[in-house]
This record gives sequence, structure tokens and C-alpha cells, in this order.
Amino acid sequence: MIEENIDTKIVDVTTCENDREMLDRSLYGAAQCLRAGGLVAFPTETVYGLGADALNETAAKRIYAAKGRPSDNPLIVHIAEVQDLEVLGYPNEKAYALAQAFWPGPLTIILPKKDIVPHGTTGGLDTVAIRMPSHPAALSLIRQSGVYVAAPSANTSGRPSPTKAEHVIEDMNGKIEYIIDGGPVGIGIESTIIDVSGDVPTILRPGFITKKMLEQIIGEVIIDPALEKPMENCHPKAPGMKYTHYAPKGQLSLVEARHVEEDGSQQAVIRKICELADEKRAEGYTVGIMAPEETLPCYEGHADALVCVGARHERNTVAAGLYAALREFDAANADYIYAESFRGDGLSYAIMNRLLKAAGQRVIQVGDDPV
Ligand code: TXA
Ligand code: MG
Repeated sequence: MIEENIDTKIVDVTTCENDREMLDRSLYGAAQCLRAGGLVAFPTETVYGLGADALNETAAKRIYAAKGRPSDNPLIVHIAEVQDLEVLGYPNEKAYALAQAFWPGPLTIILPKKDIVPHGTTGGLDTVAIRMPSHPAALSLIRQSGVYVAAPSANTSGRPSPTKAEHVIEDMNGKIEYIIDGGPVGIGIESTIIDVSGDVPTILRPGFITKKMLEQIIGEVIIDPALEKPMENCHPKAPGMKYTHYAPKGQLSLVEARHVEEDGSQQAVIRKICELADEKRAEGYTVGIMAPEETLPCYEGHADALVCVGARHERNTVAAGLYAALREFDAANADYIYAESFRGDGLSYAIMNRLLKAAGQRVIQVGDDPV
């Protein structure tokens, strides 16, 4: 059932985030709508979410319809009180320790589910993904609705996740009851997902909360091996990680130096990107280039759409700008897009995970073959 032509109400809360009372008042109608089985898109600190009552299977089904998302892909359940972990799942000590350390915040914890969580919400799995977001609008909405809120990112399936209300309006206007506008989000990439239901806690999706940060709280943590070998036929434990997510419509390629430590390697990357872009433009294609502010001016004149993605020396700005940048290439109808890569640990690892997925793992290396 695809519903269109719903009269979507847009509620602007950008001016009342520090005023709890005003925020609650502004969100009252949307909260009642959630409670009644409606769909409400709302800001979180990571990306915008598309919420529905997680225990109402009919409401959860509407999320899949609005997103055009395969229904074997489970939803994250958002809560506003840490103790609700026990209502939805069977938390162990590690789950409590992580919730204590990082909630409210950009961490999703996977637990064995309790019976009250319908399989329609977990994509048929016996585990449930739970997160307590820190965004005041998200918390107000969950608390006032009195329901647990299942919420995937509020984009059409396959498109980059929304980091501004405008992105949600692009994808969801006419399909859902409410869009809450909280301005641009802070982090810009989705929460870290950790599965603590097995022997060794496993990161299923990297994010702002890094492996190191998790290990400081609960000791050994591993990364789902399927994330490291995306080209081989491994099955990622988070079903959503197998889809060509986050992708712009044009073909994105990442360009990087084989030996980053060598002087001039950045120059070689810039030369290569300009060369590739010039070639495609000569063939009549519309070409996009994505680069950090440090090297952006070097690409002037080589692209139809030249888009800045934050600053390389401040990786959090790259995370924050990534999805908006990818959407700009769609708006420009770019056929081919070239981007510098952002290898590294921590947040860079999460950024590269998204970029590599958006690029379908296409990486062009420049420099000599290693000896
Ligand atoms: O930051 C976020 O997590 C955002 C905001 C809105 O909270 N939400 C989000 O949801 O990114 P979504 O649906 O786009 O991504 C959820 C991911 C999918 O890859 C899904 O497969 C995985 O979580 N997931 C959910 N439940 C799972 C489970 N029980 N076991 C394994 N993976 C699960
Ligand atoms: Mg998503």
C-alpha cells in the first residue's frame, strides 16, 4: 500500500530547542499522531528518522511503504528512558555498561528481543536494535507519544540519508503525516551499531562512537568481518548493510594515493581527478567533484558541480556534510562523480564505510605499484 497525497504538516522547532516547554507544545500534535499509528519524520543527532509506533505492526509496515524499503530490513527502536531496554529486550551487563556510557547518543545496541516486539519491526529477526537518541526534539516526541518509536533514516530507500529537513521533504512530502524541522543535524552519519547478543560484541555499522571508545567500556570488540570484505560474498549481520545504500544517482569513484606518506601524493590525486573529470566532460557527460575545503580550489573549472564536503583537518565536518554533498550531485544530474578519499581510524573509518558504499567500492589508486 503506497499512500501519496497525505497533507504533510511541517513543524519548525529550530527556535525552541533550548525551551523544553515550547518544544513539547510544538510537538504535541505529532506525538499524538505517532500514538495513533501515524508516521512522523524527526531530527536526531545522527540523521533524520522516519518514526512509527514500534509495537504496532501496521504502523511499521507503513514505514517500509513510504521508504520503498525491503521489509526484511529491520528497524531501530528509539526509546527515551534507559530502563526501557528491559521492556524490549534481554540486556546483559555489557549492554547496560554501553547504555550508561553513551546514551542518550549515537549508539544502537542489539539484544535478544522480548515477545512484545513484533517481527514486523525486526524484519523477522529474534533480536532487536535499540537506541536512545540525544536530540531534544526526538526525546520530546518519544516521551509525549508514550510509544517506542521505530525509525529508519527518513530517506527513500537507496538515497543518501537526510541530514536536513529539506532532504526529508524531498523524499517524504505527501507520504507521511508530519515532518519536524530541527535544522541541520550535528553528526551527519548514522549511529554506530553494536551487537552484544553473541560471545564477542561486534560492530555491525561504524559511526561516531568508535571501536576504541567502545573498548574502553567493555573490553574486546570486533568489527563484523563482512564490513572489511564487502566485495566477497560475505553476509553482513546488519541486513541493511548489504544494500547499495547512500548512493547518488551518478557513478561515484573515489581517488586516492597508494602511498599517502609520500610528498606530492595529494597533488597526484588532484591531477588524476582533474584528468578523469576532463575526459568525461569531453565526452559530453555532466561531472561532479567532491573535495574538502583544503583542496577545493584546485578543481575549479574541472566540474559542472564542485561540492565542498567539510574540512579534511576536521573530520567531523566531513561526516556532517557528506550526505548533503551527495544529494547536491543528484540535483545537478551528475553522471560521473569523483571524490577524494578519507582513509583513517575512528570517525574516518565510518566516513569511508559510507563513501565506499556510495561508490559501490570503486576506488582508483594513483602512484606506483608497491614493491
Ligand atoms: O542513526 C541512526 O541509527 C538512524 C537514526 C534515525 O536513529 N537510524 C538508522 O536506521 O540509520 P536505518 O533503518 O537506516 O538503519 C538501521 C540499520 C540497518 O542496517 C539494519 O539492518 C540494522 O540497523 N538493524 C536493525 N535491527 C537489527 C538487528 N536486529 N540485527 C542486525 N541489524 C539490525
Ligand atoms: Mg538508512
